[in-house]
Amino acid sequence: MCGICGYVGKNNGIGEVVGGLKILEYRGYDSCGVAYLDNEKINIVKTIGGVDNLSDLSKDINANIVIGHTRWATHGGVSEKNAHPHISSSKKLAMVHNGIIENYKELKEQLDANFYSETDSEVFLNLIDGEEGDLVEKTIKASKKVQGTFAIIVLSESGEVVLGKRESPLYLSKTAEGIFVASDVLALKGEYFYSLNDDEFVSIKNFQILFYNKNGEKIDKKQEKIEKNEVFSDIFCKSHMESEIFETKDALLKTLKKYKKDDVFSNIKLPKNLNSISLIACGTAYHASLMGAEFFKEAGFDARAYLASEFRYGRELLNKNTLYIFVSQSGETADTIASAKMVKSRKFYTLALTNTPNSLLNRICKNVLPTFAGREIAVASTKAYTCQIWSLYLFSLYLAGKKLPTENKISNIPFLNFDEPYIKEIAGFEKVFFIGRDLDYITAMEASLKLKEISYINSVAIASGELKHGTLALIDKDAVVIAICTQGKIKTKLLSNLEEIKARGGKVIVVSQFDDFKDFPCVKLPKYDELLMPIVSIIPLQFLALRICELFGYNPDKPRNLAKSVTVE
Ligand code: G6P
Repeated sequence: MCGICGYVGKNNGIGEVVGGLKILEYRGYDSCGVAYLDNEKINIVKTIGGVDNLSDLSKDINANIVIGHTRWATHGGVSEKNAHPHISSSKKLAMVHNGIIENYKELKEQLDANFYSETDSEVFLNLIDGEEGDLVEKTIKASKKVQGTFAIIVLSESGEVVLGKRESPLYLSKTAEGIFVASDVLALKGEYFYSLNDDEFVSIKNFQILFYNKNGEKIDKKQEKIEKNEVFSDIFCKSHMESEIFETKDALLKTLKKYKKDDVFSNIKLPKNLNSISLIACGTAYHASLMGAEFFKEAGFDARAYLASEFRYGRELLNKNTLYIFVSQSGETADTIASAKMVKSRKFYTLALTNTPNSLLNRICKNVLPTFAGREIAVASTKAYTCQIWSLYLFSLYLAGKKLPTENKISNIPFLNFDEPYIKEIAGFEKVFFIGRDLDYITAMEASLKLKEISYINSVAIASGELKHGTLALIDKDAVVIAICTQGKIKTKLLSNLEEIKARGGKVIVVSQFDDFKDFPCVKLPKYDELLMPIVSIIPLQFLALRICELFGYNPDKPRNLAKSVTVE
C-alpha cells in the first residue's frame, strides 16, 4: 500500500510526480506530499486527503527533482506531520517509504535526532543520515540495521536520489524526458523499465543511473518491456466501481479469446502426477479461489483454498504432486507473495493467476495464467473477481480434458441489476445476513464483503445449514437475510431455512433463478449453467453494495481505511 513516485529530468517534476501519484492513489489516500529541490534546499509540501489537494497546493512550483508519496497509514495516525516525504533532523535528506520497519522503536532510542512525526519511516531516514559514506553507502549500511520491508526514495540536498527496496515493489524507467520512479509500473513513462530485486539499490546522479547490490558492488540490470493493463471502457458511469462492473462481460470475453489464441493452458508446466490443487489468496481473490477449488473437485482433483495470511504460517504438508495457484488481482499482495516465495523456495509447482502484467507474483511463480480484466481501480474488486472465477473454471475444463466453451457462452451471460425497491429497504436494516449453501455460500461471503467494504453496514455470511447452530439467535425484526440459491440440489433445504427465519420475524429476500420461492420477495436471476451461476449471481449483489453506498453518499472507489493493494502484512 502507499504509492511512491519520483522524477529527475527536464520537465517540471511536480507535474510528473503529482500525475504519477494520481495514478497510484488507489494504493492509499489518507494523505500525500512531495519533496523537491530548490537551490540546494529541500522543500516539502504535504496535505491530508487526496492528490487533488496536493495538486492545488503545488501548482505554482517548478522543480526538476521531485519525490512524492500517497499514504495509507500504518504507524502514526492520519496527519500532515505523519504524511511523507519526511525530512531528516539535519534537513539534508528527505525520503518517501512504503513498507514497515519492525524494529523502529529500538532504532529510535539509539538515534540522536529530532523527530517530527510518529512514523517508522522517519527513523529509517535518520538512520541513513547518521551513517558514514556517500548516500548509497549510507542507505545500504542503514538497510542492514532495519528489520521489515521497504521501498524508498531518498533525496539529498545535493540533488542525488537513491532508491532501495526489500519486499515492497519499486521500478524505474528512463526516457529522453527524464528518469521516472514508481512503486507500480503503471505510473512509469516510457516503453521499458527496470525492476529492483530485494536489497538492490540505485543511485541517480547527473542523470546517470547506477545499480548496486547489498554489498555496495555495482551490478548490471536488464530492462523489461512495459505491458500496461488496458483500460477498457468509455462507458459513462458515476464511479470506477460502476464502470468496472459493466465491463465484466468484455473482461470474460477477452480472457477466453486470449486463452484460445495463445493456447495458454498447454504452456503451463504441471507436476507429472498432478493429483491435487491448492489455491492461496487474500480478500476477494480468496473467494474466487474457494470457487476454483470446487471447479477442480468437479474435474476430479483434490482441491483446497487457503487464506494466504494463514497458509504462510500454517502446517500444510507441501507436496510435489500438487499445483499451488496464487490468485491475486494486483500480483502484489504481501501475504500472497510471501506464500508463493515459500512454496517456490521448496521447488514445488507454482502458478500465478493475476490481472497485472509485470507484477511481483508473476516473477516469483514458475507459471503465469493472466486474466484480461483490464485495469481495475476501485478498491472493491468486481470484474477481476468474476474473471478469476471464469479463468479457474476454464482451467478446470482443460485439466478435465474438456473443450473450452465458445464465445457465445459469454454473450449469453445475463446481466442484472438488483431490484430498486429492495435496495432502500436493505439499507435501513442494522443487521444484514447473506446465506447460501455450496457455491452459493461462497457467493454469500463475497456479497457480504462487498457490502461491508463500501457501505460500512455490518453484515455476515453464513452457510445456511449453520444458521441453527448459533446465528438464528440474532434473527428478529431488525434483521434482513439475503438468501442466494442457484444450485438445484439445495433448493428444498434452503426453503426450510427461510421458513425458520420468517417465523422469527426476520425479513427474507431471495436471489435465485428458481420458481420455488414464490412466498418470498425474490430478485429473479436468469437461467444459466449452474456451475457458472456464481458469475451471474454476484453481479446484482455487487450492484446492491454499490447502490447502498451511493445512497449513503460514500465514495465507492475509495472506502475508508482500505487500499487496493495490501503490500504490508
Ligand atoms: C485488498 C483489496 C481487495 C482485494 C485484496 C486482495 O484488500 O481491497 O479488493 O481482494 O486486497 O488483493 P489482490 O490484488 O491480491 O487480489
